[in-house]
Amino acid sequence: MYGSRGVTHDDIDGQREAVLRNWEFFRAPLAGIVCMHRDLEYVDSLGVGMFLQTSFLSLTARGVGTCVQVSIAGYPHILHAQLGIAPEYRILYGLAIGYPDADLPANQLHIARNPIADNVVFHDY
Ligand SMILES: Cc1cc2nc3c(=O)[nH]c(=O)nc-3n(C[C@H](O)[C@H](O)[C@H](O)COP(=O)(O)O)c2cc1C
Repeated sequence: MYGSRGVTHDDIDGQREAVLRNWEFFRAPLAGIVCMHRDLEYVDSLGVGMFLQTSFLSLTARGVGTCVQVSIAGYPHILHAQLGIAPEYRILYGLAIGYPDADLPANQLHIARNPIADNVVFHDY
């Protein structure tokens, strides 16, 4: 993705600049912070993920793009303080939501998916 922005592997300044765009949510008009209550168990993160996946698909169907941003969770103390998020909520990640710029080279990438066989083991019974 950085390559599509002309940022090479050894371009440390370019990489830093590209990473910093996360903290302006790629200039999306809507940003979100996804949290989960600390009393919930590890398995409950599945529910959060399923809820979000359905939300993203619903937005995509309406022409709205989303970008999940785990980088936002790297500074939880700032988010808790600035947004008044209660301490009992653990910050999982950020979201950028907006209309994708089709002309942006990064949005023209078609990243291949792993073959199913790399992720699923089928057993005959
Ligand atoms: C859990 C998770 C965390 C991610 N965190 C970031 C992030 O911090 N910054 C970023 O630019 N992309 C991040 N991504 C990648 C984008 O959200 C997006 O999935 C990626 O661009 C691939 O898009 P595609 O599914 O359309 O191929 C993350 C993806 C996942 C699944």
